[in-house]
Amino acid sequence: MCGIVGYIGKGCAKDVVLDGLGKLEYRGYDSAGIALLDKGRLAVEKIAEIQDESNKSKISKLQDLLKEKYSDANVAIGHTRWATHGTPSVLNAHPHVSNDGMIAVVHNGIVENYSELKEMLLKKHNIRCKSETDSEVIAQLLSVFCADGLDLVDAMLKATGMMKGAYAIGAIYKNDENKIVGYRKDAPLIACHTDEGTFIASDMTALLKHSKDVYFLDDDELVVCKADSMQILNRNKEVVEKEIFHIDWNIETAEKGGYDHFMLKEIHDQPDVLEDTLSRRLDSNGRINLDGISLTLDDLNKIKKIYIVACGTAYHAGLVGKTLIEKWAKIPVEVDVASEFRYRDPLVDENTLFIAVTQSGETLDTLMALREAKKKGARVLSIVNVVGSSIARESDDVFYTWAGPEIAVASTKGYTTQLMCLYLIALYMGRLKETISAETEKKVLEELKSVPSKVSGLLKNEGKIEELAKKIYEKRSIFYIGRGLDANVALEGSLKLKEISYINSFAIAAGELKHGTIALMDEDTIVFALATQDELAEKMLSNIVEVSARDAYVVSITKEKNDFFKDASEMVLFIPECIDEVTPLLSIVLLQLIAYFVAKERGENIDMPRNLAKSVTVE
Ligand code: AGP
Repeated sequence: MCGIVGYIGKGCAKDVVLDGLGKLEYRGYDSAGIALLDKGRLAVEKIAEIQDESNKSKISKLQDLLKEKYSDANVAIGHTRWATHGTPSVLNAHPHVSNDGMIAVVHNGIVENYSELKEMLLKKHNIRCKSETDSEVIAQLLSVFCADGLDLVDAMLKATGMMKGAYAIGAIYKNDENKIVGYRKDAPLIACHTDEGTFIASDMTALLKHSKDVYFLDDDELVVCKADSMQILNRNKEVVEKEIFHIDWNIETAEKGGYDHFMLKEIHDQPDVLEDTLSRRLDSNGRINLDGISLTLDDLNKIKKIYIVACGTAYHAGLVGKTLIEKWAKIPVEVDVASEFRYRDPLVDENTLFIAVTQSGETLDTLMALREAKKKGARVLSIVNVVGSSIARESDDVFYTWAGPEIAVASTKGYTTQLMCLYLIALYMGRLKETISAETEKKVLEELKSVPSKVSGLLKNEGKIEELAKKIYEKRSIFYIGRGLDANVALEGSLKLKEISYINSFAIAAGELKHGTIALMDEDTIVFALATQDELAEKMLSNIVEVSARDAYVVSITKEKNDFFKDASEMVLFIPECIDEVTPLLSIVLLQLIAYFVAKERGENIDMPRNLAKSVTVE
């Protein structure tokens, strides 16, 4: 949820770390800080004030604060925070420093037994923690062990041996200017070494500028970073030989590229990334090739049930996946929210295929659900964007979405590329099981190939949607309704709006309205009615008439041929002609733009909405 960067080397550590933190600010943005070893001194600077009129980010303020200082320091760790324990304040911001001023620590994740450890520190060592955070205990523990004569590596092993929870840690020690020590357990930590020095970070985007060849630490591994070397060790202090991951992302893909916000840029990235997701999976004969995934007919015949498990937007993609797989591959699918799946003793065995869907590959709820499913014998296939992420590495097979870095907290291209992968998986399974004909496969593939250019066409609606946003941005409640696949897309459209505009928004299957929710309709209500499914168009029209009769302002989204929706709605937005199954890839683009322009009209912080973080690595 937070971002970590550390650097030791020839260069100016302050610049490297602040630049990296700038790239990670989307991971957490309520406070930020840096600790540097500077000529025998451990210096710490933090920033956490509420947004002021300058509208500057915490990292730029930190940059201002450090302008004339620490230019010679070659060792630094930095952090950008999304508060879990304790309010966003300078006191609670990282790095945390031990009471003796010897150790500084940055931490992502949660130390679950921190109260116990705080009590022990007080009783046994007379050390009272100053902040409300769980993280500070790590710095205090390390200082106790270093004061006892351990070096930072042994102290880290001893401290983490006492801790419960999930953590990525970076630590420096005033008496040892030659090292940064990092540790990982259930929270991502990446390291790389170049001629310039050694770097650690919680996220690839912070390192792209320095190297694309990185090492992902596994659980209970520790990295010893020195200016001229780097070593990854296990808990027995044995050197671990690890695979290098080459990350195929350009720095430019992690920049705004002239757009006002990352979210808008990422909405506009969709034609290209969808094309990429699809074309990487088509062989020279235009047939689906699952890119190294060994899913044979024998394997498929053994699968009695599929679970698609995910959170938030990825869960919404999973809902569409269920319809596709059941329709084309005739295998029963359950879709579950990861935080629920794990605790309800799901019926999973070796005949279950568990599909995890996740942009970051680090969402702890999804990771824990995956481990639970594996424990019960399921085969795990994951649909992941971030190469080398924890979920990718713990899966039997990985289907990468190839969306490139997604920086805005509100997922857009992440969702549509996840959908594209689910179309391909469902079609592939159907072909193998012969539950679809070759003509159906060909027809759907042709439709999928036309999606990128259709999405480009839809983006031309921006002006119209901006006008609409001006009319509705002050509304207090907005509904999204639809039937079939449209009901799934309605959920995603509604989530987009609430997370960046903070308008109370609600999505419901249109047929359910009459069972209660229609009571909420009045002249103050906006309803986005998705009506893209041919067989359900008339039923949707009836639902639209019902809500209009209660004075709701209805904006319908339907196919170009359905001109008759104009009479029943205040406004109609059209998607191009296509088969019903692929409409989610198109209608969502309009809903993404609606959420974006409403939030913009309201003047909200679109890329970094309040209370949210891009990657949720706590339960
Ligand atoms: C999307 O807009 C959200 N910010 C959020 O729901 C997100 O999709 C969810 O946290 C899952 O993340 P993941 O795809 O990285 O696992």
